[in-house]
Amino acid sequence: SVLIVDFGSQVTQLIARRVREAGVYSEIVPFQSAEDGFHRLKPKAVILSGSPASVTDENAPSIPSVILKAGLPVFGICYGQQTMCEQLGGKIEGGLHREFGRSFLEVRKASPLFEGIWAEGTRHQVWMSHGDRVTALPDGFEVIATSPGAPFAAIADEGRRLYGVQFHPEVVHTPDGAKLLSNFVHKIAGLKGDWTMAAFRDQAIEEIRKKVGDGRVICGLSGGVDSSVAAVLIHEAIGDQLTCIFVDHGLMRMNEAEEVVSMFRDHYNIPLVHVQAQDLFLDALEGEMDPEVKRKTIGRLFIETFEDEAKKLGGADFLAQGTLYPDVIESVSFTGGPSVTIKSHHNVGGLPERMNMKLVEPLRELFKDEVRLLGRELGLPERFVGRQPFPGPGLAIRCPGGVTRDKLDILRQADAIYLDEIRKAGLYDAIWQAFAVLLPVQTVGVMGDGRTYEFVCALRAVTSVDGMTADFYPFDMDFLGNAATRIINEVRGINRVVYDVTSKPPGTIEWE
Ligand code: XMP
Repeated sequence: SVLIVDFGSQVTQLIARRVREAGVYSEIVPFQSAEDGFHRLKPKAVILSGSPASVTDENAPSIPSVILKAGLPVFGICYGQQTMCEQLGGKIEGGLHREFGRSFLEVRKASPLFEGIWAEGTRHQVWMSHGDRVTALPDGFEVIATSPGAPFAAIADEGRRLYGVQFHPEVVHTPDGAKLLSNFVHKIAGLKGDWTMAAFRDQAIEEIRKKVGDGRVICGLSGGVDSSVAAVLIHEAIGDQLTCIFVDHGLMRMNEAEEVVSMFRDHYNIPLVHVQAQDLFLDALEGEMDPEVKRKTIGRLFIETFEDEAKKLGGADFLAQGTLYPDVIESVSFTGGPSVTIKSHHNVGGLPERMNMKLVEPLRELFKDEVRLLGRELGLPERFVGRQPFPGPGLAIRCPGGVTRDKLDILRQADAIYLDEIRKAGLYDAIWQAFAVLLPVQTVGVMGDGRTYEFVCALRAVTSVDGMTADFYPFDMDFLGNAATRIINEVRGINRVVYDVTSKPPGTIEWE
């Protein structure tokens, strides 16, 4: 296995992800407990992360000396490189040569680190983000690559198998970075690439059992991939100590609630409370036009309903959540400054404190696509695992203006036809999210010999990597024409269809 020592970089989890992709098990430990982690894990190699700290700071975090003396291969990234150099007798200079973003590396010397990727004398794009840099190497080290801002951009002590890079190989902006990390774990550390999601699952199950003991766990199901995978995994670990609560707010898509309930109850046999709260939510939303008030109303009712149900069950010791790694990073502000609220996201934040429960978050280290792999590993149906994201407040934010039962009914039909056409055209997996929006606007049309005066439906489809930025999907006109015709012909209440060609930014993915 590989021990990853975390010095507080925003992207440490990406290192773990790259190592997982190389088929090798790794564990991240904070630098404060690196020594314990080292003794416990007995790793075959060590990777040192970057850090917001500076080696020149007083009390700068350092690598426990047992690790440096163990004779293992070590790969230091950015701060990791600097502190390794400093601790082995090199010199670091602070502040003067800041370098952020894309840079080009020139390879000075062949190394097992570059094997099969980078030849001597070639140039390659890498991603830099540092203020300090190495200015004198410890004994035994040599420079294997340079960049305009970092004469020691990559260094090696091939004899002791110690490597350091100033750039970040773990981010996608270093296009060959994943291969570099794979060279380190395979070629340099000699680890086999036979670790899989199946192993992750077994290990996660062990950890859940250890954490929960004979406690009771409740899990809020939303119908989405994350909470479903978390619930199935936890159920494998502790069986019926888990109860799922599915708050049906009446804002789901066509047949969605039934599908969730039958999958969990019938297929997985997981204890599930299906809370029929449709009237509660829809009555509270009646006449409300303001998007933020709509979102907050739904969020508040969700929490209250969930709490009530949990009480009826006699409470629980743990609350399970399908929190993913990107949720963890997003909740930490990158700039440290205040950020404006664009939309109040609906989630169960605040619930554990209110209800005095501990959290179980077995997906905290994973990225969305890894959660999908884990879902497949757990036998969740493909149609479910491959699902596009769906927002917590559901169709309410796709019904701008007032939400009514009739409008939701119209929207559900249009949305189902649109998604059906997308699946038939084989485009579902190429699109991040596709959905219909029912506009609070009526227009005049003619059908048969009669005048119609009905709603406008807007279709939205975007591509995105993480939902933070997005582009509209460039359908061909035949596809759009066909989908529009079907919607107008088959759905009573819609007589016009438009396509949204706004990217994010300046738009957002959802309309509210
Ligand atoms: P926006 O509209 O902000 O959406 O560009 C970005 C992504 O987030 C989803 N979304 C939500 N997800 N609760 C969620 O769990 C919410 O309240 C919420 N609002 C938006 C949206 O569908 C898109 O994937």
